[in-house]
Parts: sequence; C-alpha cells; structure tokens
Amino acid sequence: MSADPSPRLRAVPDAPGPDDVAPSVDGDGPPGFDPRDLDVKAKQIAYHDWESRTYDEKFSISYDQRCIDYARERFHKVVPEGAGFGSVLEVGAGTGFFLINLALGGCLDGAELAATDISEGMLEVCARNGAEHGLAIATRQGDAEALPYDDESFDLVVGHAFIHHLPVPGAAIREMHRVLKPGGTLVIAGEPTEIGDRLSWLVKRNTYRAFRAATVLPGLSSLRKPSLREQGGSATDEVLAGLEHEVDLHTFRPGDVEHLARLVGFGNVEVVTEELTANWFGWAVRTIEGSIRPGLLGSRWAFTAYHGYLKLSRFDEVVLQRVVPRSVFYNLILHARKPYRH
Ligand SMILES: C[S@@+](CC[C@H](N)C(=O)[O-])C[C@H]1O[C@@H](n2cnc3c(N)ncnc32)[C@H](O)[C@@H]1O
Repeated sequence: MSADPSPRLRAVPDAPGPDDVAPSVDGDGPPGFDPRDLDVKAKQIAYHDWESRTYDEKFSISYDQRCIDYARERFHKVVPEGAGFGSVLEVGAGTGFFLINLALGGCLDGAELAATDISEGMLEVCARNGAEHGLAIATRQGDAEALPYDDESFDLVVGHAFIHHLPVPGAAIREMHRVLKPGGTLVIAGEPTEIGDRLSWLVKRNTYRAFRAATVLPGLSSLRKPSLREQGGSATDEVLAGLEHEVDLHTFRPGDVEHLARLVGFGNVEVVTEELTANWFGWAVRTIEGSIRPGLLGSRWAFTAYHGYLKLSRFDEVVLQRVVPRSVFYNLILHARKPYRH
C-alpha cells in the first residue's frame, strides 16, 4: 500500500513553482513548441497527457480495498445503497479512479460503463485499467463543456476532481444535465471548496518550508527528492510539470454550486462537504512524500499515515461536522436529479 493516506490529494512540491520554471524550452521538444503559449484547454490536454503516464503512482491510486472504500464512501454519502443504473458515464474520468473503484465496489453492478476526458492519454490508461480489472469501458475523447453524447443517454453521470479544471464549470453541469435521462442522477465528488483550499494551502506551504529548512542542516540535504532534471527529465518535462500551477482554475462555495445545478434544471440538489483535519494531515503527509527522496519512507510510515487519516476523517465526520460550517471543509460532493417531464 502506498504511504499516501488519501488517494485524492494533489502534489505540490513535485513540480517547480511558476518562478522556478525554466525560461525557455530548449532542444528536446518540437522546435518552437512552448506549452506555456497554449490556450487554457490546450494546456489541460498537454498537462494531463503528460501526467497520465505517472498519474496513478503520483496520487497513490490503486484498484484495491483502500480506494474502493474511498470511492464507495463518497458515493454513498449521497446515493442510497442498492440504487441501480443501466448506463453510467464518468466525465473528466482521468485514469478511471472513480468509475473503476465504484464498479469494483459493487455500486454499478450490471451497468454499461462509459468514460470521457479531454486527454487521450488519460483515456488510454483508463481503458487499460478497466480491462485489467475485467471492466469494458467505452471511452470517448471530449470536452466536458460540450459532451460528445446524445441527449438523454445515461442513467447516472459521475465526476471526480475535474470541474475545478474547467473554464466554465456551469457549462459542464448543463451538459451533464443534457446527457442524463429524465430521472437520472448526477454525482460530482472531490471538488475543492474555497475556504478548505485556502486552509490546506497554508498546511502545504508551511510543511514544505519546514522540510526545506530542516534539510538545509548539514548532512540532511540528501533527504531531498532530486529535481526532474536530476531524475533524467527534459526541459519540456519541466515546463509541462510547471503547468500544474495553471490547470487548477477554481475552488467553490457550496451554495454557488447548488445554485448552478438548479439553474440548469436539476432538482433534489444537495451539496455535502467533508474532510477538515484529515485533509490537513493528508496534505502534510503528501507534501513530505512529494519532497523526500523516494524510498526513504518505509511501510511503518505508510501504515501510520493511512490509519491517522482514517481516524481524523472519523473525527471530522462525527464531531466537527456538527459544529463547523460546511464551507470550511475541503471536499465538496454535489448530488442532483434530473426531473421527469410532466
Ligand atoms: C485531477 S484530474 C481527475 C481525474 C479523475 N477524475 C480522478 O479523480 O482521478 C482532472 C481531469 O480532468 C480532465 N479535464 C480537464 N479539462 C477538461 C475538459 N474541459 N473536459 C473534460 N475533461 C477535462 C483532465 O484531462 C484530467 O483527466
């Protein structure tokens, strides 16, 4: 098992910050190619195609009990056990983390599975991951803001950690409404709230600074993870890695997301949020994992991190969710139904 307590925390120090990015792309990319000149959607494609090769490893994504439990719990926070669906689409599916783990967890039994993403690279990995777990996933490259499917095609549309990448998230929510059959269900999980993201950024930054300061001490600099260049990456790799800071476009207020969903025609709209101290703990762990030389943290670290994360998640749910406003928690889950026609 990976040391990363939550499979869903985004890495920070792996990639150079905007100030650290090489000023020009030399020799090893196509002549004249500079990903920083691309428009916002082409940047998403360039970054996620590049990231698809290492995405599962980077985010500690697996298709085993740990990730199955994580996906099932998110889903069943808003959808009752035993709900059945004939056809399911995941939008912004990436390598298939949510769809595949939901299917393996028995949430999508008997359903036809489809996945779309703007990145072909991600979809190739998604289809491969599905096949490795006995799942046939029909993949189709497309933009969430103009989905490549007919009206009223699916009983369930899901998404995980992707609408914050879209220039116009409301356009994607309208599209998901369009491709749902009347009575169909929408579930979007893993989106960052505005306040939760700010708080987690403080944790991330302070952990990173503390780690850097500690590794300035004599003899400790060898603890630091080698840079991409030192690991054999090219200048193009470095620039593409730097796009990580440009592809995250939004954070959300729960009430705004509910409003958007109602505006495009959804009914039974609800937004729930989760993870506060668990998220801070997870970010601190993930930041250290992303900063330290690979191989130095052993299985005891992995065990402690995972179980620490689970305990804090329980504390957040049982204690803090009673007293802390929902806007402060990090992860947002949207659940809505498309009304039947009268
Ligand atoms: C953080 S990843 C999440 C992937 C996956 N859902 C998961 O949870 O692991 C964001 C995904 O959104 C996709 N994406 C970004 N912009 C998109 C767009 N306009 N339309 C569809 N997918 C998009 C990216 O290619 C990437 O696969």
